[in-house]
Amino acid sequence: MTEHQKGPAVAEMTHITSPAEVDEILRSTDIAADLHNRDSFPLLGGSVLTLTRTEHLQRRRLEARLFARDALHISEQSVLLPAVKRRLAARTALRTDPVDPVGDDLLVFSRMVLVEMTARLIGLDGVEDDEQLELLYSCAERFGEAASVEWALTDHGEIMAAGLAASDEFVERWFASSYRRRRELLESGAELPVDLLSLLLAHAKELDEDEVRREAIFFLLASSSTTTHAVPHIASELFAWLENHPDDAAKLGDVGFIRQVVNEGLRMHPPVPSLLRRSLRDVTLSTGRHIAEGECLALDLDAAVRVVEVSGEDPAVFNPYRPMSTGAHPYGFSFGGGPHTCLGRPLATSTSKTNPDEAASGSIVVFMLELMAAGMRLDPRTPPPRRRADTVADRFESFPVIFTAL
Ligand code: HEM
Repeated sequence: MTEHQKGPAVAEMTHITSPAEVDEILRSTDIAADLHNRDSFPLLGGSVLTLTRTEHLQRRRLEARLFARDALHISEQSVLLPAVKRRLAARTALRTDPVDPVGDDLLVFSRMVLVEMTARLIGLDGVEDDEQLELLYSCAERFGEAASVEWALTDHGEIMAAGLAASDEFVERWFASSYRRRRELLESGAELPVDLLSLLLAHAKELDEDEVRREAIFFLLASSSTTTHAVPHIASELFAWLENHPDDAAKLGDVGFIRQVVNEGLRMHPPVPSLLRRSLRDVTLSTGRHIAEGECLALDLDAAVRVVEVSGEDPAVFNPYRPMSTGAHPYGFSFGGGPHTCLGRPLATSTSKTNPDEAASGSIVVFMLELMAAGMRLDPRTPPPRRRADTVADRFESFPVIFTAL
């Protein structure tokens, strides 16, 4: 594991806004991902995003097995969809008067279903009832805050202490027993379930239990926090779009349209505001920019995608029909690029370039289709959704919605 490195605050790093430079830096093996080598190191040091070169490639290749097409399909159909339907039914059951609309907070809803899906992916036993889910949700929330500590405007030490306390709870409630059960299965020669813990136990024997725990925590937050922050932005853009394009209401059940909405929403609102990098040696980019060994960089994804060369006309305006420039992704830079490109991207969303017959649409696409089929609208009874004031990341504090078709 690399050492915990101190460095300048994000605001004092060299900010890179040019898409060409962002792309070149992301692809460079001489410039390392640095986010979890800083304040969040005690919780996430040694996880895949902190690794470099061969060690990184080996871990990544192994974990990519979790995202095989069949596995994604099972995850969407057998875990995510039932979880969404169960939550909608539970919210409906809370209604005391049948004329009252069914309501929920979209932030809470997203995190609850994502936590359940990711618990399966990791291989956490015992997360089966709502009480366990609520407890894991609470851990995931604290892990998410710790992972984004670099952008927090409040005390970083307190945020990390809460994340580490959540880690102890995580180990005690689910991780230690799930890890032990798989180790015993492995030792007895029995078949292992397909999940992260089994993969690491069987094929990454050099990792000790503590290192596997860090990886499991990274997976939990990498999946649930990003999606939780993305979904309200996507919904907010879609509601505004429908006001000005009412004819598109007829397309809310169309997977192709919703996929474009999701990808365009992700393009406009990268859940990770900037990607942090540290140069391993002196590098000169093809633009002529010189980066010194040890220099810390913040790759501004928001700025890099809001340029005509990448996104086409009116790059700062939401448009699900946007024709992208050749080579650009419909979701812009939101899943990063180069060796650390998000491994979970196919679990989150699909692209219109992929085969339309593909088995998995992406959890955010499936989630949005279900919510729109349930008649999701902003809750007119409450004040509009609030943005958070305790972080420089563009995140919602709450996002109250109602379901008019329930
Ligand atoms: C909206 C959803 C998501 C967004 C926007 C997102 C974004 C990102 C970004 C930007 C990175 C690269 C970070 C960097 O280079 O510094 C990343 C890495 C990663 N993401 Fe995601 N992510 C999402 C969902 C998921 C899901 C569902 C998973 C599944 C568990 C996941 C697993 C990972 C992993 C394992 C990495 C590390 C890859 C590596 O270091 O090689 N992500 N993600």
